[in-house]
Amino acid sequence: MRIWIDKLRRDRTLAPDAYRQLLATEDADAVDYLHRQAREVALSQFGHDIYIRGLIEVGNRCRNNCLYCGIRAANPSVARYELTKEEILDCCRHGHELGFRTFVLQGGERRGRYRMWEDVVSTIRATWPDCAITLSLGEMTREEYEGLRLAGADRYLLRHETYNADHYRMLHPEQMSRENRLQCLQWLKETGYQTGTGIMVGSPGQTIDCLVEDILFIGRFRPQMIGIGPFIPQHDTPLGQCKAGSADLTLRLLSIFRLMFPSALIPATTALATLLPDGKARGILAGANVVMPNLSPAACRSSYALYDNKAAAGTEAAEGLDLLKQELDKIGYRISMVRGDYRPTD
Ligand code: 5AD
Repeated sequence: MRIWIDKLRRDRTLAPDAYRQLLATEDADAVDYLHRQAREVALSQFGHDIYIRGLIEVGNRCRNNCLYCGIRAANPSVARYELTKEEILDCCRHGHELGFRTFVLQGGERRGRYRMWEDVVSTIRATWPDCAITLSLGEMTREEYEGLRLAGADRYLLRHETYNADHYRMLHPEQMSRENRLQCLQWLKETGYQTGTGIMVGSPGQTIDCLVEDILFIGRFRPQMIGIGPFIPQHDTPLGQCKAGSADLTLRLLSIFRLMFPSALIPATTALATLLPDGKARGILAGANVVMPNLSPAACRSSYALYDNKAAAGTEAAEGLDLLKQELDKIGYRISMVRGDYRPTD
């Protein structure tokens, strides 16, 4: 197994069967070695600096019905909210004072909101020219992505969730299409966004072969950001009785992506921290270099319930930066207050 890991570090790619073996192995020493190699690669790129992003959950109204997601349109038990422009700007102001230099605007997918986003993005751009703006607002038209890029957005997060067509079908209703999602990712890249994609690990019906397909897709797509978190059931959804994904497998994938993409921006996700009390530290020690504390107004946080028990307090909260500092300090890392753009190193 070590031979594969060394080869992955050297060549940044492996044959499908080697990925399969890395994902399936029960050899704990090999997994340890994988994490160590990924950690070394992250250290060579970023030192002990961890980039922070202020996550603003701008609203939980959504037109989609993804079977796994707590804010799906058909869930009547969510208290729906939508932040106003002023509320979003207040979050940014607060975040800027705390030292954040990236704001991530994430929310449910809605139609007809383009003008509002164009206005919000250009206002943030003009007010805080030193900050990066990341959007995570789902699928849009090419023209909309282009317009928001022109208005000043720098980055866009849109996980493909799963590459396998049958698996995609299992997780999404008829109206949604994997092809459109992949098309959107292509447009985002062509429009000049630092583009992020990623998957949920352990979603119902996912096999090791699905994950290998995800790795191969991400290998071809070459995103600048890669978000990987475990699936966690949300009790009001059709998949609410399924079991959560594995943190161990999530960490393996994180390390594999770090070895494939040394300079990628890879967060230790909230879902991982929700599943494991020390998930953030474990993610960083497996090669992650980004954390995304929650800057949303406290009153909204419980309504942005993508999955059960979603962590939003302590080190997950922007007010908890001191706690986060302490937690990182314990493992020898520190928060970096720079924008933290993607920088290709070769
Ligand atoms: N478990 C884990 N992650 C989820 N997401 C949505 N629902 C869940 C869930 N039940 C993730 C998706 C989406 C991101 C915003 O949240 O991957 O892209």
